[in-house]
Amino acid sequence: YRSYGNERSNSMGVNLANDDQLRVLADQINAVAGNDWRATPLVPGATVGGPSITVTNPADRRETVGHWQAADSATVERALANAVAAQDDWNATPAASRAAILEHAADLLEQRMAQYIALCTKEAGKTIPDGVAEVREAVDFLRYYGQQARKLFTVEALPGPTGESNTLQLSGRGVFVCISPWNFPLAIFIGQVAAALAAGNSVIAKPAEQTNLIGFAAVKLLHEAGVPEAVVQFLPGDGATVGAALTRDPRVAGVAFTGSTDTARAINRALAARDAAIGVLIAETGGQNALIADSSSLPEQVVKDAIGSAFTSAGQRCSAARVLFVQDDIADKVTHMLAGAMAELKVGNPGLLSTDVGPVIDEDALKMLRDHAERMEREATRIASLELDADTAHGSFFAPSAYALASLDQLHKEVFGPVLHVIRWKADQLDAVIDAINATGYGLTLGIHSRIDETVEKISARVKVGNCYVNRNQIGAVVGVQPFGGQNLSGTGPKAGGPHYLPRFTTEKTITINT
Ligand code: NAD
Ligand code: ALA
Repeated sequence: YRSYGNERSNSMGVNLANDDQLRVLADQINAVAGNDWRATPLVPGATVGGPSITVTNPADRRETVGHWQAADSATVERALANAVAAQDDWNATPAASRAAILEHAADLLEQRMAQYIALCTKEAGKTIPDGVAEVREAVDFLRYYGQQARKLFTVEALPGPTGESNTLQLSGRGVFVCISPWNFPLAIFIGQVAAALAAGNSVIAKPAEQTNLIGFAAVKLLHEAGVPEAVVQFLPGDGATVGAALTRDPRVAGVAFTGSTDTARAINRALAARDAAIGVLIAETGGQNALIADSSSLPEQVVKDAIGSAFTSAGQRCSAARVLFVQDDIADKVTHMLAGAMAELKVGNPGLLSTDVGPVIDEDALKMLRDHAERMEREATRIASLELDADTAHGSFFAPSAYALASLDQLHKEVFGPVLHVIRWKADQLDAVIDAINATGYGLTLGIHSRIDETVEKISARVKVGNCYVNRNQIGAVVGVQPFGGQNLSGTGPKAGGPHYLPRFTTEKTITINT
């Protein structure tokens, strides 16, 4: 494999504004668009059978995208036994070799990105730009954690007063279970797995039920790149059965989880209840993300960034803006411009480049959003709610909407979709706004729009969030330069794509030799 050493740069992806690159990508996507995709457990020695579950396109439920089979309890048991047996050898593989395999996987993924973009569109309803970003982030995670492993897994000598030889060595913890959500079915899925592998763990990867086809294709790629089949195993199935069986098993050393706060709590309880070593939980969860705009901000930019933050990926990003706090001096102007700009959003087929907002993931998500909209129609003031075109009739589409609220208390939980809430504040209420944001208990992203340095400093110092963005949108953290993750109800830390993530997957050993 090509060695990257300590050099790393972020993936360039595809320039969608370049006609030549776009044409090549479109041809490649079209070539695989009609595929009948399959996903089965990838567990050496297991007998895979059972009913086949049909996957349909969220943008048009009449279209079958593929089929998957869930792991049964015997397959779960086999996966755990395999993972335990395989870990020592993988842990003994030099970190530089593990890194080289991950870097090879990154190269393969870049070469075949059209296939993964097509899958993201068909299975997860992602727009083409979102699909490109998803592949880029996945490639970045593979290279970043490879690079981190090269740096961290050196034997560190600790000279000191004892007159002995003291060294500190890192190794993998054992079997890691990686449980991921559907909204970043490739990037988060492969990011968790890559970190666990880079650190010398064997991995059982359980994707979200909604995006097994993408998870399967990702694990196949890791095998092709050189990760042994027992070292990374793919285990599709329900969270409540397969996920819960894994997290309560005493052979599991740690869980990397991304998803809802409620599920993180359930996993934490399951790990704690075991008669086993205390398991590690790395959880990245939800948010109730705000954007604060004061009267010094530029209304045009506030509106552009609020729309980008709230409606990109149909609002199905943990980082998405849910509440725009706008100072009353500019509130009328911003609200008026927001409604006008939202009317320009094109909702529809995510496979078309003209589409801004694709479908939501499934009918459960749609129902949750419709229930929320019904409540908002009673309890808030509608600013805008788009009309859906007839071509969305067979998919899980929700019309992007914005509502004016009197108080943040009116939002009871994270609304995971294309809904923005707007709250006005007066000059003497900035502290109250900050208090209200902190009182949600979440702490993921925050947007600030202000031209006053003291205001920016005050807000960013006082708000308890993981990622704070000033005078720009608040989504799309870049691996290696914008480590991502929240605090409190939003996650345990450490941040994905940051320097402190990989060490959490490791255990440390001090060796003292009386020389
Ligand atoms: P979810 O919690 O319903 O599911 C996530 C995963 O957990 C799935 O694979 C599911 O099968 C599994 N699971 C469910 N119950 C389980 C159990 N009892 N034991 C073990 N595993 C179980 O979340 P979701 O709806 O798929 O994802 C959306 C949520 O994820 C939102 O809250 C969003 O904010 C959050 N999210 C957070 C981040 C972040 O980085 N902070 C990133 C993306 C998504
Ligand atoms: N990392 C993703 C973002 O920043 C969730 O939008």
